[in-house]
Amino acid sequence: MFTRIARRAFSTSKVNPYKVTILGAGGGIGQPLSLLLKLNHKVTDLRLYDLKGAPGVAADLSHIPTNSKVSGFTPDNEGLSKALKDADVVLIPAGVPRKPGMTRDDLFSINASIVRDLAKAAGDAAPNANILVISNPVNSTVPIVAETLKKKGVYNPHKLFGVTTLDSIRAARFISEVEGTDPTTEHVNVVGGHSGITIVPLISQTKYKTMDKTTREALIHRIQFGGDEVVKAKDGAGSATLSMAQAGATFANAVLSGLGGERDVIASSYVDSPLYKSEGVEFFASPVTLGPDGISKVHPVGDISSEEEQLLEKAKETLKKNITKGFAFIDKE
Ligand code: NAD
Ligand code: LMR
Repeated sequence: MFTRIARRAFSTSKVNPYKVTILGAGGGIGQPLSLLLKLNHKVTDLRLYDLKGAPGVAADLSHIPTNSKVSGFTPDNEGLSKALKDADVVLIPAGVPRKPGMTRDDLFSINASIVRDLAKAAGDAAPNANILVISNPVNSTVPIVAETLKKKGVYNPHKLFGVTTLDSIRAARFISEVEGTDPTTEHVNVVGGHSGITIVPLISQTKYKTMDKTTREALIHRIQFGGDEVVKAKDGAGSATLSMAQAGATFANAVLSGLGGERDVIASSYVDSPLYKSEGVEFFASPVTLGPDGISKVHPVGDISSEEEQLLEKAKETLKKNITKGFAFIDKE
């Protein structure tokens, strides 16, 4: 499924002590994500922060006999800055999830300020951290974090990531269902952003490029709107949490592998990207190489079909608006 990530996902070749902080650790994503990172041997100091509940999650996880210390924090006693102090990796799943009938953009009015405030705190307490943004709408929250860090003079475009891994894992799963194959062997390059038509799966780059048009269009639609399936099934109780935790832990592991000096660690993410900047698209998801200083290379999308070219053009139009909205939110402060 993840050609390169999977091989490295639980590699034991090298162990470095990393401090990892999860902001929103008491939530639907936060709790299973905390569990998965407690099980990751690369993490030696796991800090869990939420408005409430994180100390309980930390106490629970602390009984698992892996090599990390786990601590829980609330806003009391400067808990946020203590949780963030000198972290190597900060994951942000804090914020509200969708209910049926909502778009991710509908979450902007609440989540924009949550993410901004957490980014401010991260900029102060962990200016060198790799920041992994999960909170939606990712297409806008990532630009919000970038602008917030720029204002503080600590922005490093190589260390800011919008987590789009869930789109990649869905694509692998859904294409395996169509083709009747083992999902763990599938990989689909998914580029663009993280919402509806900004999610562009590149089926032409798989071995199924001759898939018939109707099947392909249905598959692309399912990958683009996979999040809606879960929101609908949860019927008001939120959106994807468990698959997202798996996706977030996989991506965090890839970042940690890069920090630890593993070579050729490549994963897709929504990043400050040179690919379409000249067209006004400042952030874009594509495969990136992860190294000791974060992103060492942003890979182009590669050869794509004319149908995918059209999808990409539409995605870029929406991305521009989502990015501008994020920038404007910070600029008007
Ligand atoms: P949830 O409501 O279950 O949990 C969110 C947690 O954030 C809660 O525990 C809440 O107390 C906490 N929180 C709120 N404000 C906070 C603050 N200022 N500081 C610290 N913690 C704070 O929601 P969830 O299902 O875990 O989803 C969280 C976010 O992740 C949503 O915005 C959702 O849309 C997004 N999401 C993104 C992806 C993706 O692929 N990137 C996938 C699924 C969900
Ligand atoms: C997802 O893709 O599942 C998440 O972005 C959550 C959502 O709102 O769909």
